Amino acid sequence: MKILVVGGGGREHALVWKIAQSPLVTKLYCAPGNPGTSALAENLPIAVDQLDKLLAFAFENKIDLTVVGPEQPLSLGIVDLFEAHGLKVFGPSQKAAFIEGSKAFSKDLMKKYNVPTAAYGVFTRQSEAEAFIRETGAPIVVKADGLAAGKGVIIAQTCEDAIEAVHEMLSGNAFGSAGSRVVIEEFLTGEEASFLVITDGNKVIPLASAQDHKAIFDGDLGPNTGGMGAYSPAPVVTQDIHEKAMLQVISPTVAGMAAEGRAYRGVLYAGLMVKNGEIKTLEFNARFGDPECQPLLMRMKSDIVPVLMAVANGDLADSGIEWHDKAAVCVVMASEGYPADYRKGDEISGLDQAVQSDDQYVFHAGTALKDGICVTNGGRVLGVTALGVSVKDAISAAYQSVSKISWQGVQYRKDIGKKALERP
Ligand code: AMP
Ligand code: GLY
Repeated sequence: MKILVVGGGGREHALVWKIAQSPLVTKLYCAPGNPGTSALAENLPIAVDQLDKLLAFAFENKIDLTVVGPEQPLSLGIVDLFEAHGLKVFGPSQKAAFIEGSKAFSKDLMKKYNVPTAAYGVFTRQSEAEAFIRETGAPIVVKADGLAAGKGVIIAQTCEDAIEAVHEMLSGNAFGSAGSRVVIEEFLTGEEASFLVITDGNKVIPLASAQDHKAIFDGDLGPNTGGMGAYSPAPVVTQDIHEKAMLQVISPTVAGMAAEGRAYRGVLYAGLMVKNGEIKTLEFNARFGDPECQPLLMRMKSDIVPVLMAVANGDLADSGIEWHDKAAVCVVMASEGYPADYRKGDEISGLDQAVQSDDQYVFHAGTALKDGICVTNGGRVLGVTALGVSVKDAISAAYQSVSKISWQGVQYRKDIGKKALERP
């Protein structure tokens, strides 16, 4: 079977790594990929938004299955385009990916189908937004409606900051057209969890639990990023929380999307806030989380390819997923300055020494090869991931790898997985 993975980040390196292990695969491509994927697949010089080029490649090379990593091509309609040409593809249609593409749509969907979420309003006018902010009080959360690469959420500590954030978004300064509509919502406290499932629009297979670390600094301080590390399993997702997530969030959402004529196929990722045994949904993503994908796929025991293919065929009925008992932890190593403007082009040293056992792996995200040398080329550069018999052991193994790797200005959190250890 010939498979094409679309994307070039840490998530796609993890997908390529996992798919490459399948005995069903005869040839694997990644577009555009990165230096990490090039060791396992043939990288193609096609960007994720060049849908016509991706289609032409898949068509001419008789690709049996295309697996889409990032949200952008999904929102642009890559799945619809490929399917219209008779090609099998894993991911939601454009209409289904709208659950991530518009936060206003996703909040309205949750309201309509009684999915627990924060109280909110949707605004296009500054004056109405201001009135809502004053009425609700701070802290309060301001979100750009459209895709903003994980950066469109502002947690405002004062009403003035919230009003300023709304102004920046509505005026188009902050996120262009993605900010021309804003969602303003109640600030929630609690512990977050990433709850991912794979669905064909009917049957749902929950993935193992995971937790991301969104803030740039230790102790969840500083601005939010795309994610600075993740681990699985996440003890915050107890059996009870798992059941509530399936019953209150996933089932009504999958059914609701079908009822709206937006049948959902692919990975559905619910960002949950857990507090006092209850859950609220922060957001939906139409794809694997990055970096959650890295620890999740390291823990996945069964072959992922039959599951991906079954979803592309719209029939998950006979599929299941087995997991390793071991825990996995991924520590993201990032460039100086991230999540604001960051340095690029610094030589990465220690990659050869970082992996000392089969339980450790370095997933590439923002790297490039310059004259044969691996250099930094993005905000999040590497996802250093390890398995261990417990989260504690996986943390040690991951940080052992991290300690071997360095470049000028490297930054990473020292407390990935700590919340799992602090639980009673
Ligand atoms: P989102 O993209 O909507 O998940 O937001 C990104 C991050 O912002 C979440 O993972 C949370 O850390 C934070 N966040 C979003 N909405 C809220 C909220 N209503 N209350 C508190 N934190 C939030
Ligand atoms: N790690 C969060 C996300 O992928 O959106």
